[in-house]
Parts: sequence; C-alpha cells; structure tokens
Amino acid sequence: MNTNFPNTKQTQDIDLTALFSKEGRRSAEMEDELSGLSYDTGNEDEANEEDVDVDAQRKKRNRFIGNILIYSGIAIFVAMCIVTGVLLFMGQNGEPIKALRFEEKEVTVRAGHSVKLNVLTEPGSVEYAISYSVSDENIAEIGTDGTLKGIKAGEATVTAKSGNVSSECTVTVERDSISAFEISESELNMKTGDEKEIKLTCTPSDAADKNIEWKSSDDSVIKVSDGKITAAGSGEAVVTVSDTVTGIKREIKVTVTDPEQAESITFNEESITLNVGDSYETELTYDPDTTEAKYSVFYTSDQTIASVDEYGTITANDVGECTITAVYYYDDSVTAELKVTVIDPLVLTTPPETAPPETAPPVQQPSGSGIETINGITYVNGIMIANKTYSLPADYDPGVQDDAINAFYEMQAAAYEDGISLYIVSGYRSYDTQYYIYWDYVASDGQAEADRYSARPGHSEHQTGYAFDLNSLDQSFGDTPEGIWLKENCYKYGFIIRYPKEKESVTGYMYEPWHVRYLGKDIATSVYNSGLCLEEYLGITSKYQE
Ligand code: DAL
Ligand code: ZN
Repeated sequence: MNTNFPNTKQTQDIDLTALFSKEGRRSAEMEDELSGLSYDTGNEDEANEEDVDVDAQRKKRNRFIGNILIYSGIAIFVAMCIVTGVLLFMGQNGEPIKALRFEEKEVTVRAGHSVKLNVLTEPGSVEYAISYSVSDENIAEIGTDGTLKGIKAGEATVTAKSGNVSSECTVTVERDSISAFEISESELNMKTGDEKEIKLTCTPSDAADKNIEWKSSDDSVIKVSDGKITAAGSGEAVVTVSDTVTGIKREIKVTVTDPEQAESITFNEESITLNVGDSYETELTYDPDTTEAKYSVFYTSDQTIASVDEYGTITANDVGECTITAVYYYDDSVTAELKVTVIDPLVLTTPPETAPPETAPPVQQPSGSGIETINGITYVNGIMIANKTYSLPADYDPGVQDDAINAFYEMQAAAYEDGISLYIVSGYRSYDTQYYIYWDYVASDGQAEADRYSARPGHSEHQTGYAFDLNSLDQSFGDTPEGIWLKENCYKYGFIIRYPKEKESVTGYMYEPWHVRYLGKDIATSVYNSGLCLEEYLGITSKYQE
C-alpha cells in the first residue's frame, strides 16, 4: 500500500501554505502533527493502520488541490496588475502617446498668483499621465496637475513629460505691482472746510505690491490723507497721487475759496424767560440767506444764571437775568444777543416772610459838586453810581455794558497768560433780579444782616452793567492766587475791587474780594493808586435813608 508522499514534498507543501496565512500555517502545522502521528503508529492493528493511511492520503490530496487553487489565484492577480499597468501606460485603447505640447509656449504670471498650464497630447482622445518640472523653483513652482505659481520676478522653463515625449514652456514671473491707476477727480473747486473722498482704481485691482502716496503742494490750502482731501484755506494747490513702487503719478488741481459769510446774525427771539432747570435751544438766523458758513460761538454773561453750550443750548441755573451772546466765527464784529430771565416759580408764588416795599425806593437826590442826575441815574464826576445813597430807576435795564465785558475778556486773557483763571459767576442783574435775591437773603438772614452784603433792589452796582462777581463768593478768595492777582492787576484793565477790606463803614458793604467795578483804565488806575475806596475817592456817602 502506498502509504506516503515523500516527506520532503510534504514539508514543502506545508511551508508554502503557511506562507499565505497564519491560519494556514497553524492548520498546516496541526495537519503535519497529525501526519506525523500516522507515521509513528506502526504498532497499531492492521485495520486501523489502513484507515489512517486512506485518511491521510485524502487530506494530502485536498491540500494539493487547495495549493493549486491558491497559486492560480495569485497568478491571475499578478497578470491583471500587469495588464492594467500596460493599459494605463499605453492609454485605454492601448495606444502609446505620440506627441505632447503646451497649449501656450510662453506664459506670464505675477508673483503670488497661479495659472493652470494646459498640455495637449496625441492621440487627443486618451488621457496620459504627465509629469512636470520647473528649471528654477525660486522663480516659480509647478504642481502635479500643471498649476504654476509665481514666486518672484524672473524667467524659468517648465517641462511636461509623458513616456518618451516632452514639451517646454517659458514662464515669465512679474512683480505683483500695478500697471496703471486712475483717480475719480482731476480738478476740484472746494469751499474752506469742505472734505472730499477721492476714489482710486488700480489695474490690476488685486496687485499687492503697491504703495500709494498722497501729497499736497500747500498744506495751508489743502490737507490730504489717504484719499481724503480737506480744504484748509483759500488758494490753489495740487494734490499728487503716486505709486512709489512703479512711479506712476496722477494730479488733482484744487481751488479753494472761502464760503460766503454772514453780514449779521440774529436770535429768533430778543428775550426769553425760563424756569430754573429748563433748557432752551436757541436758533440763529444768518443774513444773507445765501450764507454758506454758518457757525457761531456762544457766551453767557453770567453762568450762575444760565449757561450755554457750543450748540447754543441754554440751561437755566438760578434765578436772575443774563445775556447770551452769539459771536460769528468768521467775523467777531458780527454778534447777536438774547436776554434770558430765569425765574423760580416757587419763589414767585411764595412771597418772602419779610414783605418787600410796595414800590421801588425813591431816587436819592444828589448833592455836592460833580454830581448830576440824568434820567434818574446819578453820575459823580461822570461816573455812574449805585450804592446805598444813590439808586437806579427800576426800569433802568441796560444789560452788561460792552466796554465792561470787553475789558473783562482782556483781563481774563492776560490772567490766563499768568496761569490765573478768572470767570464771571454773576454779572448783570436787573432791578427785578436783585429784588428776588435781596429779599431771599432777608428771609434767610434778616434785613440788618442782609443789608451788609446784598444791595436793595435799585441800589446794586450789578444793575449798572459795570460790575462782575468773579470766581468765588467767599472772602477767602482774596487770599488765593486768583484773588491776589485780581487785587494787584485789575486796575490795568479798568477795574477796581469795589468793596475792599475794612471799608464797610464807607462803602456800606462787607469785604468782597470777588466784586469788581469797571471805571475805565485811567480812573481805575487813579483809584488804585489812591488806596481809597470809590466813595472816599469821589467824596460821597453810601447810606440808606431809612
Ligand atoms: N453784593 C453787592 C453789594 C450787591 O448786592 O450788589
Ligand atoms: Zn457783586
């Protein structure tokens, strides 16, 4: 009985099978062991021995057939790979590439930009694998799909290759700069203060390598920044727009004229009455109607009574009267005035405990030399006087006096130069305003005390329009740098400290280092040099006729 294939053959079979899988190796080893068992069973009985042999032979045959099937599979797979490779290489129809060329032999691209290079092949119906290379990768890069990217300015050659055919394309990489630009204006007529945006159109619009500069030939006429032109003053100027990368330039000729100015300005109302806490938006009319430059600055004669902001909005702060002045920005001789009366409805409806006199006190009759009365107003040596002896008519309502307020502004500017800030806290006060102020004080402090620091209506110097209270209504103001500066310098601008220290018995009022009276520079200097208060200087009294 043919019991076995040779052992060597067995071993080979087992090893080859094992090559293809761990599973295969494991089963081969097991079978090998089983086979081994069958060779070593010579001591078994005959029938058993025959059965084992038949079984082993069947297994070996099966294994042999299995091996043949595996090897055939491998062979078929390898053959298919070869056929596919050949087909790919030769084309789907198996036809090899005959010719290849770039659609364009010369290509220009900007640094930082990309372009796809097209390659034509023959036969055209077949798609061939093409490889690309570039002669200088510092100049340009080429992708596997033929996309070319410019790196920096220069020339390079791109080669496309397939099989044994190839083609070349000359590539020029340019800087990413503009080739031209246009501006939206070449000539402009502007008014002082106007602004204009200039539009710039670059070709190509996406060029990154550009640097546009804007310059004005005369900054006093035209200011320019990044395409925004501002007319600064009348005249002519040229705005130059240039690209510093390429040197391309454009120019805009600009003529600037001053806008038509106002000859006069007026508030829409002459006077207004506001409640404490109210706000009021003033309206200014500019004449002529064609005025182009409509801009004014607003001042108040007394910010404790009413303040005004830069837009002309008034806020009523306290009971009293003041004047809001608008000064035309382009010509300070053009002004408008608005009288503001601030009332406190509560005070008006609640009379003070101490009843005020039914009528204004009688006008004092002047006496002595140099004293004269004109329309009920007393002048001593030509100086308007309001004190306890001499009163003003209730309807005398001049508002702040021009020469006084102008002198104040002059003094304020000079003080500022010396680092001293002066401001008016109470200026012009009408008879009515003083009426409420005085009787309020009487209600709080009693009349005897109030008479020491507050004038009765008709007797206040504030009604002359020549007096101002500055900075602080506190006697310690006299020891501040501002108070000291005021005392030592105010005569130079036409003012005197009206109620000096230790003169209460003469002036009739306590020391008021904040209260200045305008007399004009000559008289103020003379009073200052005399060291006298005004009553002493003029030889007059200040006493109520009780
Ligand atoms: N305080 C001064 C005297 C006035 O009331 O006029
Ligand atoms: Zn005062």
